[in-house]
Amino acid sequence: ALRSVIVGCGSALPARAVTNDELATRVDTSDDWIVQRTGIRQRHLADESESTSVLGTRAARAALDEAGLGPEDIDLVICATSTPDHTFPSTATQIQAGLGIHQGAAFDLQAVCAGFVYAVTTADKFLTTGAAKRALVVGAETFSRILDWEDRTTCVLFGDGAGAIVLEAREGAGTNADRGVLSASLRSDGRHRSKLYVDGGPGTTGTTGRLRMEGREVFRFAVGSVTDVIEDAFRRAGLGAGELDWFVPHQANRRIIEASADKLGIAREKVVLTVDRHGNTSAASIPLALDVARKDGRIREGDLVMIEAIGGGFTWGAALIRW
Ligand code: ACO
Repeated sequence: ALRSVIVGCGSALPARAVTNDELATRVDTSDDWIVQRTGIRQRHLADESESTSVLGTRAARAALDEAGLGPEDIDLVICATSTPDHTFPSTATQIQAGLGIHQGAAFDLQAVCAGFVYAVTTADKFLTTGAAKRALVVGAETFSRILDWEDRTTCVLFGDGAGAIVLEAREGAGTNADRGVLSASLRSDGRHRSKLYVDGGPGTTGTTGRLRMEGREVFRFAVGSVTDVIEDAFRRAGLGAGELDWFVPHQANRRIIEASADKLGIAREKVVLTVDRHGNTSAASIPLALDVARKDGRIREGDLVMIEAIGGGFTWGAALIRW
């Protein structure tokens, strides 16, 4: 059976890091409030030149380099983003062009903060059916462009950045000892639109719009519901939390992450946390966190890793991967 194996990862952050204290000079907030409620200490914010596709291209190039592969080796590029440079062409095609990839297919995938989990799951279908051989899966965002910088309840939470992995189709034994994506579970429920949305869009209002969120409702839903896809992904693979090496959740809020881990019986030392330094980078947060934990030596080949996320819609999902 074919498996989608991670053969490289990479990430990119805007040069400028902004601390909570610096934000407090622009909006009525404090380092104490932000750290206590969210665990965030700083976030990176893009300048004009650091567009979503520029960050995504940098992350993707780093992933290709780590894999020892070149542009001729990739036949699928999927970019998870809710903040594309333009309405069209897609950010994925701009990353493709930026890397000199001239074959295969490229497209964007929009599932907000769950975008990377959706993109990995989608790429896995292409690879395990033989429709593609090697995929670049990118999560890239510049949420700073859609924030209302007058709204302290949202603008302190988000940051910009990008992360990427290369997935390669390899023959496996068809067991849980195989490297690669072992299982995945996706969900969405559009009835929750009003809890997290952007109040514009070129098609309806002619504006970019600004992010709006009912923080408490999102919090409640995230802690209450994300465990269903995680448990489903474990069940589909016939594995459990006890066998997990690393839990790499979407980095929105430390309290949501720790509450979810506790509920699932996942030990705190297995949880990869980067929200303190990156803030919430939406679809980029998981590949950014994977790259941190891979480069600092925590994630090793053969480790069992669970990624999970919930985002606007709501959309949510989880994937179990043996690195
Ligand atoms: N600085 C200082 N005070 C603030 C700030 C701020 N940045 N923002 C809000 N406050 C005040 C409020 O005005 C309120 O004051 P009041 O009691 O006088 O009215 C007080 O702090 C408490 O506000 P709440 O909204 O009740 O605070 P809460 O404890 O719910 O924390 C938070 C807010 C952090 C947004 C929380 O609800 C949360 O984490 N929600 C999850 C949202 C999230 O992570 N979304 C990410 C996007 S979705 C995703 O990625 C899954």
